[in-house]
Amino acid sequence: MQSLSTKHLLGIKDLTANDIQLILETAKEFKEVINRPIKKVPSLRDVTIANVFFENSTRTRLSFELAEKRLSADVVNFSASGSSVKKGETLLDTVNNILAMKVDMIVMRHSSPGAPHYLSKRIKANIVNAGDGTHEHPTQALLDSFSMQEKLGDLAGKKIAIIGDILHSRVALSNIFCLQKLGAEITICGPNTLLPKYIGEIGVRISHSVKETLQWCDVANVLRIQLERQQIKYFPSLREYSLYFGINKQMLDELDKEIVLMHPGPINRGVELSSDAADSHHSIILDQVENGVAVRMAVLYLLSQQI
Ligand code: CP
Repeated sequence: MQSLSTKHLLGIKDLTANDIQLILETAKEFKEVINRPIKKVPSLRDVTIANVFFENSTRTRLSFELAEKRLSADVVNFSASGSSVKKGETLLDTVNNILAMKVDMIVMRHSSPGAPHYLSKRIKANIVNAGDGTHEHPTQALLDSFSMQEKLGDLAGKKIAIIGDILHSRVALSNIFCLQKLGAEITICGPNTLLPKYIGEIGVRISHSVKETLQWCDVANVLRIQLERQQIKYFPSLREYSLYFGINKQMLDELDKEIVLMHPGPINRGVELSSDAADSHHSIILDQVENGVAVRMAVLYLLSQQI
């Protein structure tokens, strides 16, 4: 039986191409399981997992919880709001107290880049990074690649565009690492102010033209404008951003080929994507969400072999 080269999932950067292929192959099997009338398997019976969220989430949190329950794990959920973090308890004390209750694995979202890496050096339990600030969101990248493979097959040589607020996005970096390891070509597109200064040095093409990028790509993965992480103004107004970098259905319909439209959610409707594009036949946004459960089942199952 194959196993992952790592005990934690901290980021895609640490995974080998074989690790990624193993997760995606395992996810295919779990997707079959969750489409059966009986969606549960006993794989993680007697394993206890804590979902520790210091930042808001809808998709990732519910998806992990469902994945854990489908695998028959025992699950506890922790939100920083309403917890003793508000009384000044540290991250390490909080997690050590949760682990003292015989928890085996931690799924963690935190606003500080590197928070799960810090913990991984100080605790014994397996850690899954469910998003650390603007750094990485590995399971999002894995479910994005899984969804692209479902539509396009092998991603080697496929042209993937990542469009929007790259600067503040953990999804962008994880997608770039994942897609490069799968052999895809990548263009990032957005206003200069929303592209990290040295991003060209990691082997991606850069464009400031959405029209040209849509003509070039097989997949457009559109990212949210993350206003909550923007302390200064990166563009004059949302209206202007939408005018120059927003995507609508007409733009997709007018291409001389079919492309796949993706977005990790939550969508700012009318800003980076119009509603008619988000809800069109081009979009696989809800497939991404569906696939998230199977991919997270695969990650938890494979990591549990190293408890
Ligand atoms: N895609 C994603 O991470 O969504 P949530 O913030 O709702 O978890």
